[in-house]
Amino acid sequence: MKIVKIIIDKDYQIGEVDKRLFGSFIEHLGRAVYSGIYQPGHPLADADGFRSDVIQLVKELKVPVIRYPGGNFVSNFFWEDSVGPKEARKPRLDMAWRTLEPNTFGLEEFFRWTGKVDADIMMAVNLGTRGTADACNLLEYCNFKGGTKYSDMRIHHGRKDPYDIKLWCLGNEMDGEWQLGKKTMEEYGRISEETGKAMKLIDPSIELISCGSSFMTMPTFPEWEAVTLGYNYDYVDYISLHQYYGDTFYNTDDYLAQSDDMDEFIKTVISVCDYVKAKKRSRKTINLSFDEWNVWFHSKKEEVDITQRHPWQIAPPLLEEHYNFEDALMVGLMIITLLKHADRVKIACLAQLVNVLAPVMTDPEKGAWRQTIYYPFLHASLYGRGMVLQTMSVSPSHETKEHGEVKDVVSVAVYLEKEKEITIFAVNRNLEDIHQMEIDLRSFGECSVIEKLELVSDDRKAENDLFMERVKPRIAEDIKLEDGRLETPLKNASWNVIRIKQI
Ligand code: AHR
Repeated sequence: MKIVKIIIDKDYQIGEVDKRLFGSFIEHLGRAVYSGIYQPGHPLADADGFRSDVIQLVKELKVPVIRYPGGNFVSNFFWEDSVGPKEARKPRLDMAWRTLEPNTFGLEEFFRWTGKVDADIMMAVNLGTRGTADACNLLEYCNFKGGTKYSDMRIHHGRKDPYDIKLWCLGNEMDGEWQLGKKTMEEYGRISEETGKAMKLIDPSIELISCGSSFMTMPTFPEWEAVTLGYNYDYVDYISLHQYYGDTFYNTDDYLAQSDDMDEFIKTVISVCDYVKAKKRSRKTINLSFDEWNVWFHSKKEEVDITQRHPWQIAPPLLEEHYNFEDALMVGLMIITLLKHADRVKIACLAQLVNVLAPVMTDPEKGAWRQTIYYPFLHASLYGRGMVLQTMSVSPSHETKEHGEVKDVVSVAVYLEKEKEITIFAVNRNLEDIHQMEIDLRSFGECSVIEKLELVSDDRKAENDLFMERVKPRIAEDIKLEDGRLETPLKNASWNVIRIKQI
């Protein structure tokens, strides 16, 4: 067995984890809303028509903030259609996914649902087919107390107190060819500057997110970030990053090595934000909102079939990824990467939450279940809130076809000072070799092991379904801690959560 060595010192700190790092996303897409979170008539639906089985699984994840209503959907979203008495709401064409949006679930319903899962709303405005005025009207409807056209409209619709939504995305993936109302850098820079300015005049307490590149390989990345921030810097607080990974190399080593690409992506965006800061002689720092991240590749073929050959259905099964064990490892690696940048990545949204690229799946007639990726996200959300520490680590490495030599073990340590707990998250992405992990924890004084959780599988393609959880965590006993030195084996292809108590 080769050795993985880690030294953790409580005084070497990267940054406090913002709870919004464990956010997620619900888009009006596929079965995320209809027959996902909302299904009146289902035996498990509550009085509002919300599926109580879904509420329970989402609550377990402790998701603090949920982005809404898109995604690509937002770029032709007419928010007025989704508010007021349901009988008067009309269906609309959703061109982004070529489906029919019935509008029986809208802003008020989403607000109620987020109340039931204890999450805040991160709202996106349509800067594709609409613009500054509509974004302002929506903000006035949501956050202004009353006595104006749109705030009174909200009150008339039965919601006296403002929704008081604090986080707002200025459009979605505005550089994307697929985006309705796609913009050039200059066009987006200007419209986001003017919209941001106006929105902050209405409610200076809100925070705004500027659209970054749709993903790292966009031809205009990272110039897009530099040019657009050049315009809107004074009005925005965050810039967005989106990235989905998949086994497009057809080999697991390169698939799992892509978390290193994610790390590069984050570092580059930080550099661009700081470059614009320097250029503007500004004292303000722009932080990062990684507001779409996940694995997405299994379902790509079905998407084309439904959107092109069978358009204008209500809630067809779109982007329904059936995640396997390898995908859970990849999600674990992505979470570790986000945590390592806790000083600058303040918001992140696992995209998405229910049925669409989701940790939670539903059967329209039966119950809901947890996909494989549910578990690394759950562990990080439960135990990853605290101070991320700068660790010294040495790991064996292996060769990959596309990424060259990569480290076998990727890990991060989080210290919850108040609870006197240290958690180490580690993925051994070597598919063959078990490694012995040795952690030096002496700076914490006397410590004991709370538990070691691991996710392992003999079958890397194993999936969960409604009837069987083939991939779920188990408690491992193979851990020893003496005089501040911890030793434990990390199985080949494994996700590990090591929880320590400071005595
Ligand atoms: O999450 C699915 C889609 O991926 C979103 O609508 C879009 O923003 C991204 O391309």
